[in-house]
Amino acid sequence: MRTQVGIIGAGPAGLLLSHLLHLRGISSVVLEKRSRDYVERRVRAGVLEQGTVDTLVEAGVGERMKREGLPHHGIELRYGGAGHRIAFERLVPGRSITVYGQQEVVKDLIAARLAAGGDVRFEVEDVAVHAPESQPYLTFGGERLDCEIIAGCDGFHGVSRPSIPEGVLSVFERDYPFAWLGILARVAPSSQELIYTRTERGFALHSMRSPTVSRFYLQVPADAREEEWPDERIWAELKARLETVPGFTLTTGEIMEKGVTPMRAFVVEPMQYGRLYLAGDAAHIVPPTGAKGLNLAVADVRVMTEALAAYFERGSAELLDGYSAACLKRVWRAQHFSWWMTTLLHTFEDDDPYARRLQLSYLDYVTSSEAAATTLAENYVGMP
Ligand code: APR
Ligand code: PHB
Repeated sequence: MRTQVGIIGAGPAGLLLSHLLHLRGISSVVLEKRSRDYVERRVRAGVLEQGTVDTLVEAGVGERMKREGLPHHGIELRYGGAGHRIAFERLVPGRSITVYGQQEVVKDLIAARLAAGGDVRFEVEDVAVHAPESQPYLTFGGERLDCEIIAGCDGFHGVSRPSIPEGVLSVFERDYPFAWLGILARVAPSSQELIYTRTERGFALHSMRSPTVSRFYLQVPADAREEEWPDERIWAELKARLETVPGFTLTTGEIMEKGVTPMRAFVVEPMQYGRLYLAGDAAHIVPPTGAKGLNLAVADVRVMTEALAAYFERGSAELLDGYSAACLKRVWRAQHFSWWMTTLLHTFEDDDPYARRLQLSYLDYVTSSEAAATTLAENYVGMP
């Protein structure tokens, strides 16, 4: 079997790449180890930057997102007994975000790929990368797929990054001393906008998916286990962290999904080796506080599509050679922003009273200075 681009992973990165390549007349095969049902149900973040929305719409996969996605023109920072709105419409006019679950994006992309006759294979076993430096091919479940290019879109735990010989990649990483417990609940949002709240008990986030489904996160210890968090404890803790301003009541409901996500930052440089190119979580992870993960994956794929189009249409390898450098600029901006949002809003066990006062003073600055609020807003809605 032969294809132009062999894609490992049917997350947002792999699926979108396959679809964008198809629109440019470039063939690909997507190999995914999980089932279709599994990837469509996997609950992840849900904040889409304008650039991500535009990419999906231009690619013809934005119909349902335009109907069901929730446009947001601001977020609230809540701390010290008060809420402070970061007003995108005033600080970054014309730019906003859309709340639409990542698994909905994945469903839309799978539907589009299959409708166009795309070759997306689920439950594929033992994918392995061979000869990435010269004549690459993939093997899986006893088959062989010869490729001109391999795209490693297989997430943080995939096989593509580890197939690069030792010593080639520089690794930059940081593990945070806490995790996020995320839940999806069948209950109307208690607020129209997302609330990022900092309390002495830790951080919490009130997000949403639809008028009847809400999404919440709690900062928990790094070694927290789901079993330690029965539903009543989750609601009590969310109330303790969110019901901190006069007149705000959190409405509770049935918890449909629960999961603990470690907080980690990770980047490899370069994001390429020979004819193997990494995109999305395979190359970089951000802590979720700035909601950048999915948006970075989409940005990588946009860059890779242009580079592959230049290569297959005109035989020019220039953009491919510059792929990593082009992506890493945005990746590092997002790394800094995510680290900044994380340190601004979480409690760190070894913080002394001085550090805590400093954090509150910085929050006061961000919510009262036009310049600081604009920095937050500009990064939150994303680079064009
Ligand atoms: N063989 C085939 N598929 C694999 C393998 C493997 N060995 N290892 C992992 N995969 C698949 C995973 O099952 C998953 O479906 O690769 C896919 C990677 O998808 P994601 O983890 O969603 O990563 P990506 O597409 O880069 O999207 C980035 O996902 O983790 C979030 O916050 C992140 O929102 C961001 C987005
Ligand atoms: C989400 O809705 O899942 C979400 C929102 C904002 C974040 C992270 C996750 O910063």
